[in-house]
Amino acid sequence: MRTFQQLSPLRTYLRGIREEGKMVGFVPTMGALHEGHLSLVRRAKADCDVVVVSVFVNPKQFGVGEDFEVYPRPLARDQQLASEAQADAMFLPTVEEMYPAGFQTVVDVPGLGSLLEGAHRPGHFAGVATVVTKLLNMVQPHRAYFGQKDYQQLLLIERVARDLNQTADIVMVPTLREADGLAMSSRNVYLTPEERQAAPVLSRVLKYAEAQIHAGDADLPTLTAELAALVAAEPLAKPDYIALVDPETLEPVLNLTETPVLIALAVRFGKTRLIDNALVAPPGITLPRTRGVKM
Ligand code: PAF
Repeated sequence: MRTFQQLSPLRTYLRGIREEGKMVGFVPTMGALHEGHLSLVRRAKADCDVVVVSVFVNPKQFGVGEDFEVYPRPLARDQQLASEAQADAMFLPTVEEMYPAGFQTVVDVPGLGSLLEGAHRPGHFAGVATVVTKLLNMVQPHRAYFGQKDYQQLLLIERVARDLNQTADIVMVPTLREADGLAMSSRNVYLTPEERQAAPVLSRVLKYAEAQIHAGDADLPTLTAELAALVAAEPLAKPDYIALVDPETLEPVLNLTETPVLIALAVRFGKTRLIDNALVAPPGITLPRTRGVKM
């Protein structure tokens, strides 16, 4: 596996790959790789000839008081895991390489970026959209892979790709879960043993909602109240939001029998904030595939 810190040699390497007619897959990450990330790498490797993984803890997507300084950075381990998952190259830009002196441009998606996570983390999605736009311009992949766990991020990245005529296909890969249902996340390491025991409440809530909606007669106010009660029954869980929204607009759904639904959760356990989601369709309704997004 090749490792690049600077853009110029990465570009030279990738130009050669493209000239050979090979397909480039890209997995952007903030490092602290876990099986969820590796499933993106493996999927990219199955689809493409050459896979680039980037590790960049992007300061612009962390708010004041968030975990930028303490975000885990086990770089040597990340390199080993990416190499074992058959990544061909790693791009490890420095903050100076990404945001040189004088950098000013912001990519913002004010509509989608202000809902759900955006309402709780002001500026977060402008930071994400800006860095992902830069990374896609730097790597110029044929396909870029993102996990469903960050569904809103994926929707927003797809919106930017469409709005700014970016050429990469945006591919969604299903969330990977621990045996007890907890979605894999680099932030799970922050949980105390008690919080870790409590955290699978998120996937239990999603499973319950899924079953109710699949049954075909779910009532919106009743299910909303039931989901809130399930979270409230776990004393360590403090919800930021429990949302039932349209998977494409992220606006609240009006019923649970005629439209597909994204159930999105953000819950705090002590100092750790976890998110999770499920895409569900009632009987007879098919899940949407947002343009370009492959599920
Ligand atoms: O999902 C992440 O790890 C980050 O938000 C991303 C897409 C790598 C941008 O920094």
